[in-house]
Amino acid sequence: MNPKFQTLFQPITLRSGVQLDNRVVLAPMTNFSSDAQGNVTDDELAYYARRSNGVGLVLTACTNVTRNGQGFPGEFAGYDDRFVPSLTRLARTVQGEGAKVMLQIFHAGRMAPAALVDGDVVSASAVAPVRDGAEQAPAPAPRELSGEEVEEIVRAFGETTRRAIESGYDGVEIHGANGYLIQQFFSPHSNRRTDRWGGSLEARMAFPLAVVDEVQRVVAEYARTPFAVGYRFSPEEPETPGITLDDSLTLVDALADKGLDYLHVSLMEYASLPRRASDTAQSRLEQIVAKVAGRTPVMGVGSVHTPEQATQVLDMGAEFVALGRELLMDPDWVAKVREGREAELETVLDVEGQDRLVIATPLWNALVNTPGWLPLSKKPEAVTA
Ligand SMILES: Cc1cc2nc3c(=O)[nH]c(=O)nc-3n(C[C@H](O)[C@H](O)[C@H](O)COP(=O)(O)O)c2cc1C
Repeated sequence: MNPKFQTLFQPITLRSGVQLDNRVVLAPMTNFSSDAQGNVTDDELAYYARRSNGVGLVLTACTNVTRNGQGFPGEFAGYDDRFVPSLTRLARTVQGEGAKVMLQIFHAGRMAPAALVDGDVVSASAVAPVRDGAEQAPAPAPRELSGEEVEEIVRAFGETTRRAIESGYDGVEIHGANGYLIQQFFSPHSNRRTDRWGGSLEARMAFPLAVVDEVQRVVAEYARTPFAVGYRFSPEEPETPGITLDDSLTLVDALADKGLDYLHVSLMEYASLPRRASDTAQSRLEQIVAKVAGRTPVMGVGSVHTPEQATQVLDMGAEFVALGRELLMDPDWVAKVREGREAELETVLDVEGQDRLVIATPLWNALVNTPGWLPLSKKPEAVTA
């Protein structure tokens, strides 16, 4: 190994006692490949097995904590005890390859496609999401959750955590990022409530913090071996009103005192600067690291392609670096860097390599047909998958 990449390979023990072999994490990625009932399929297990040998930690794709929390077709479910066997198979597969595994738990809220949730699309308030392409049809406004329903969803995050414990996971990651329900409660765009769950910045933090408290209560009650809890968030929204970095630093300050195992900063560019904030000259990640001030480990992510960039994330003060698309294109990324073979990293998606890369067809088709997602070895029109 090139000694300059050594920091990536330092083991770490999380606050919960979960031990990771190194600092590289498989980012959570939905793969659209579960069966119609919401069970993990053999294709998904093969995909995860191929990507679990080398990273210290695997974060699974998101799983929905209630029936109407489903955000994607082919998403595996976590909202009922009948899914414990399916969830168990996934945990064992990853651990069998040597990595630790955390289940990402979420509710899609107003981002749920109506057809997947019998038309019952819900959110903090009846405000439709902003669509970013003119070609997209305007989204319908969701139904505002009652106070009682909000409390039921908080409990549902706890119930799915209990199932993760029963299924043998090493932890759960609370998905408070990327515009889904937890973020919808924190956002002044989607949360216009005037009860205890909305209004002031503090009240908009009530739902995220209630989910954390409930998940930690369940862990304390049920986990008999070390079980980690992480929290993922997106620090800014483009809309006005929308979450600003200053808002997020207030949330981070509260989360950093919760005794979590890590905070995961969901960014498309790990070194990106804030859009609007008191300080727009320092990167979002570094401002968050400064606010946390050593209280909780931080995980960076976003367009980390090379081991130099991965090391830079750690140099910016994060304890972990997650890789998403690079591990789709090259599942051997970690092994190659560890063995000093970084010159062999695959940096484009080999459009003829679906079998070799072990990516099931629903995800494969999305990757080769979504312009701008991944660099492809050939032009999309030449792809026949
Ligand atoms: C196909 C795909 C599926 C994704 N699914 C999820 C998901 O289920 N949960 C989540 O938090 N982020 C999801 N993401 C975002 C990634 O975790 C990651 O933050 C993003 O891809 C940026 O990292 P990268 O540049 O290393 O790919 C997904 C990304 C991709 C490309």
